Amino acid sequence: MKKLNVNSDRSYEILIDRGILNHCGEYIRPLMRGNKAMIISDTNVFPIYGGIVKSSLEAQGVEVYSHIFPAGEGSKSLSSISKMYSDLADSGFSRKDIIIALGGGVTGDMAGFAAATYQRGIDFVQIPTSLLAQVDSSVGAKTGVDISQGKNLVGAFWQPSAVLIDPDTLNTLSPHFFSDGMAEVIKYGCIKSKELFARLERENAADIIDEIIYDCVVIKRDVVQRDEHEAGERMLLNFGHTLGHSIEKAYSYTGITHGEAVGIGMVMMTNASESAGITQAGTAQRISSLLKKYSLPCCDSTPLKTITDGAFGDKKASGDSLNVVLIDKIGSSFTKKLRKDELYSFIKGGCKND
Ligand SMILES: NC(=O)c1ccc[n+]([C@@H]2O[C@H](COP(=O)([O-])OP(=O)(O)OC[C@H]3O[C@@H](n4cnc5c(N)ncnc54)[C@H](O)[C@@H]3O)[C@@H](O)[C@H]2O)c1
Ligand SMILES: [Zn+2]
Repeated sequence: MKKLNVNSDRSYEILIDRGILNHCGEYIRPLMRGNKAMIISDTNVFPIYGGIVKSSLEAQGVEVYSHIFPAGEGSKSLSSISKMYSDLADSGFSRKDIIIALGGGVTGDMAGFAAATYQRGIDFVQIPTSLLAQVDSSVGAKTGVDISQGKNLVGAFWQPSAVLIDPDTLNTLSPHFFSDGMAEVIKYGCIKSKELFARLERENAADIIDEIIYDCVVIKRDVVQRDEHEAGERMLLNFGHTLGHSIEKAYSYTGITHGEAVGIGMVMMTNASESAGITQAGTAQRISSLLKKYSLPCCDSTPLKTITDGAFGDKKASGDSLNVVLIDKIGSSFTKKLRKDELYSFIKGGCKND
């Protein structure tokens, strides 16, 4: 088993181990102050793993309840949270009881937000089951939901009591969602680790996924520990995301996945910084080749103006300028402030879109 400690205002452990799902009760019970646990999960994940988690908790004498919502980003709304509150209240959950988030990033974000707000905050444990959730969303304490004006616009920072990662759960994840998570893995290599990037080039990620998850979690843990509330270094995690979010929006969030859009964003930004002489030549090509290796696209036909204009609607843009994340070479990243008019011409410099 691999163990990582996260030091924040509430410290917690991240445990990574194949088969940990079968023993999750042993790890969760000692963290509990009350006797009730609500498993929050979706209609895909609960039928596969809900029983295992429930039995393991019950073996420790925990009173287990479950709340299952329809799988997919479309569920990530305040109305779903409202149903969770009702279930928690109807089942007599008090501030001492616990929520277990069992699923991908949608589940973790929503269960975490319900935990952050129900009775002004109750404990929760993350059991991420998608690659994206294991390497990204379960670490860093961001929780929230989408509203009609945009994604993740409502939320809270709320630390889990623990994160339990079982790489075996990836066996049932579709190849499509595996690739989606790989875009974030590639991002970590780009911004912080040339060794990870080279390993992804050399080997097949699926064969060494336990080590990859560990490496990514360490990178994210270290970054968020130094900058919990996104004042500085945490922005580096947005590499590929400024343009990526805008591309997702141009597709109305259908027909392109987050990972696909982020991959394209990383390549566009790096083509631009290479043209501007900031980035080592050949870097964008290396990123493109790696994306292709993991079945991700590296370009898109959305007009450039749509992409750069859309970037200013992002919640991370402030006023007339925004911070973009650039890499000078693989494994080394920094931020640069660009005005609206500068963003277009900067990207245009390395761009084939019109
Ligand atoms: N909080 C954060 O810091 C953070 C960071 C990145 C992304 N996110 C959020 O995460 C969400 C995306 O996460 P996601 O891609 O995991 O989405 P998701 O939770 O919808 O999971 C993707 C799909 O895979 C299924 N699934 C998950 N695990 C499975 C398994 N082991 N076997 C079979 N099917 C499985 C789900 O049911 C779903 O259909 C977005 O809402 C995004 O905003 C949050
Ligand atoms: Zn992302």
